Amino acid sequence: MATARLLHLATSPRGAASESRQIAETFLEAYREAHPNNVIETWDLWDGSVPQFGPAAAAAKMAVFAGDTPRGEGAAAWQATKSAFARFDSAEHLLFSVPMWNAGIPYILKHLIDVISQPGMVFGVDPHNGYTHLLEGRGKKAAVIYTSAVWGPGLGSSFGTNFHSTYFEDWLRWTGITDITQIRYHPTLNGAVDEERRKAHATARERARTF
Ligand SMILES: Cc1cc2nc3c(=O)[nH]c(=O)nc-3n(C[C@H](O)[C@H](O)[C@H](O)COP(=O)(O)O)c2cc1C
Repeated sequence: MATARLLHLATSPRGAASESRQIAETFLEAYREAHPNNVIETWDLWDGSVPQFGPAAAAAKMAVFAGDTPRGEGAAAWQATKSAFARFDSAEHLLFSVPMWNAGIPYILKHLIDVISQPGMVFGVDPHNGYTHLLEGRGKKAAVIYTSAVWGPGLGSSFGTNFHSTYFEDWLRWTGITDITQIRYHPTLNGAVDEERRKAHATARERARTF
């Protein structure tokens, strides 16, 4: 049987204390049991490996858009961008563990999105039809663990607004990844934390077996 690669992108900086990371570990344990031949790698986005995307990289991106070749500092920045994209693109199966931060995603994940969302890598664009989605049809799928402590589905706007899964899944679909599995842990302030945690881990186990 052909082996697949699973890349876990961990976006909480809280290490062993992280709820989303713990749910991811449960997912990975069940995934390993179900797919013993598949290769699993975790990319901790806080380990310093996501390259800067500042003046040189932004200039390089605009040069590529204009059909030019980035030079000097821009060339080095563009090479770092390509390497980060290659790491992301090395896996067919993607697992993201994503806490809600201020209604959205942690900035380190937005940082990665800004690095790898490049023309010719994630997207193409033409003046008549708009974007094309370059990861489409590549057999890719994503499981996403969403956690929050205050916001929860069905609560009023005084508990916050969900720019978390809405933003992130819009980005996934933009890349062409449309096979998306959600695992949620939103105990909220009045919830039964232990019970909600138990349910989230059970869901992670179940989804991993068929992922
Ligand atoms: C910087 C920061 C911002 C947060 N913002 C929100 C928020 O807007 N809404 C919310 O419900 N929880 C928020 N939380 C709580 C976390 O989403 C929640 O505790 C989550 O489960 C943490 O995941 P982790 O343990 O994997 O880091 C925030 C936590 C941090 C550290």
